[in-house]
Amino acid sequence: MSFIKNKKVSNELLDYSFLIKNFLPLKFGNKSKYFAYVGTYGCQQNFADSEKIMGLLKKSGFSIAKEKNLADIIVFNTCAIRSHAENRVAGNLGIIKKIKENKKSLVVVVCGCMTQQDEALVSIKNSFPFVNLILGTNYLKDFLKLLYETIISKNKTITENKLLKNDIPEILEDIPTHRASNIKASVTIMYGCDNFCSYCIVPYVRGREQSRDPTNVINEVNKLINRGYKEILLLGQNVNSYGKGLKGKVNFAQLLKKLDSIPGKYWIRFMTSHPKDITKELIDVIANSEHIPAYLHLPVQSGNNRVLNRMNRKYKVSEYLETVFYIKNKIPNICISSDIIVGFPNETEKEFLDTVDLIRKVQYTFLFTFIYSKRKGTLAAQLEDKIPYEEKVRRLNYLIKIQNEISSQLLRSYIGNIETVLVESEIYEQNILLARTKGNIVVKIFVKDNTKKMIGEFLKIKINKSTRTNLIGTIV
Ligand code: 5AD
Ligand code: SF4
Repeated sequence: MSFIKNKKVSNELLDYSFLIKNFLPLKFGNKSKYFAYVGTYGCQQNFADSEKIMGLLKKSGFSIAKEKNLADIIVFNTCAIRSHAENRVAGNLGIIKKIKENKKSLVVVVCGCMTQQDEALVSIKNSFPFVNLILGTNYLKDFLKLLYETIISKNKTITENKLLKNDIPEILEDIPTHRASNIKASVTIMYGCDNFCSYCIVPYVRGREQSRDPTNVINEVNKLINRGYKEILLLGQNVNSYGKGLKGKVNFAQLLKKLDSIPGKYWIRFMTSHPKDITKELIDVIANSEHIPAYLHLPVQSGNNRVLNRMNRKYKVSEYLETVFYIKNKIPNICISSDIIVGFPNETEKEFLDTVDLIRKVQYTFLFTFIYSKRKGTLAAQLEDKIPYEEKVRRLNYLIKIQNEISSQLLRSYIGNIETVLVESEIYEQNILLARTKGNIVVKIFVKDNTKKMIGEFLKIKINKSTRTNLIGTIV
């Protein structure tokens, strides 16, 4: 694959925003404002997609509502990674049913990963027949066209989710974006995933991996920094394979190096890194950079080679540890976090204890832990699984307990340090600021007053206390 499908947003897409805007009074009555509510489930990528959906809705005359009850249109951007995420969507659609009963004109859209799976799609259609538009992933280009068709049609459900197994997502540039924060911004650098970890639904619902043109990424980051954003989060399912298939042969390390050379006071974070693709070149770029904080999310999933093999992760525990120690040696203060799945089909007690052993060796600052959730269509779904659910819960709780001890101890070692933090928000009426260190650790800062004006600032903080999850400090 050597072609780039990165395209400028088409005029047609924007034409539909005018058509929708003109049709709003007819559809929803004459009002001074029309409201859209967008509910997002799942990962950062979904949140980034939702910011674009909100941008398109604003362009079409809607204001963004924080309350479902106010809305003329409700969009649910769904997640399929675990059954828990799907259950939450179903629960919320149940609530919408009641709202719709009292507001017949309400337009309901369900989009995103869940709608790409046959079974979930049928279940949405059967259980929630009032849904007006069902859209798969990668349909932003047609979002307004399909929304317009939905709005002008009477009570018909329109469905578009024809992502094929070999689909390469079409990347549209310059889609209007409604950014949730004016301090932190996400920038998607690649779409889809080619890794097919055996438990994971993502490659099936998001299609093949496709990188954005580096010039477009650099221009977008440049613009955001010039507009005053202090933290840019580069997004991709596996950022370490960025550039594969691009003509210009640029890899992730080189992209990061270029971004780091943009002048200004800002941080660049990124996620997610697949351990099999992390390179010494990348670690060296981070070590020598000015704007890339010492933090790495490096999901290991399991600490046992047999399980890693069944998961199709393509690395061994020894290789992972080698990478971690290389990183710790090059960037001594680095904070590392990870994702772990417990209760993968037929994970033995010994295999599980190897994971406990690994987290002790790595000393993660924090962990995201999950109980394995069977996803239909994935390879792991075919594996026989005899472990009772209660046993999986026990393993999860044990892992969390061990990690809590590790986190508490690590965070305690920060007491007395002076840390540079980025202030993100405040606790309302309590004179407490919430910030993050370079290592992504939350810091509560006690201040006298004037909290608002410090939001978005980099501050030097003396750390006085710690808990299991955060640090507590005062301004130096
Ligand atoms: N069950 C449980 N956890 C999963 N993840 C992905 N698929 C599953 C699944 N089927 C976890 C992985 C991944 C994170 C985003 O979600 O740990 O890194
Ligand atoms: Fe899923 Fe693996 Fe791709 Fe991550 S790298 S999205 S876990 S298939």
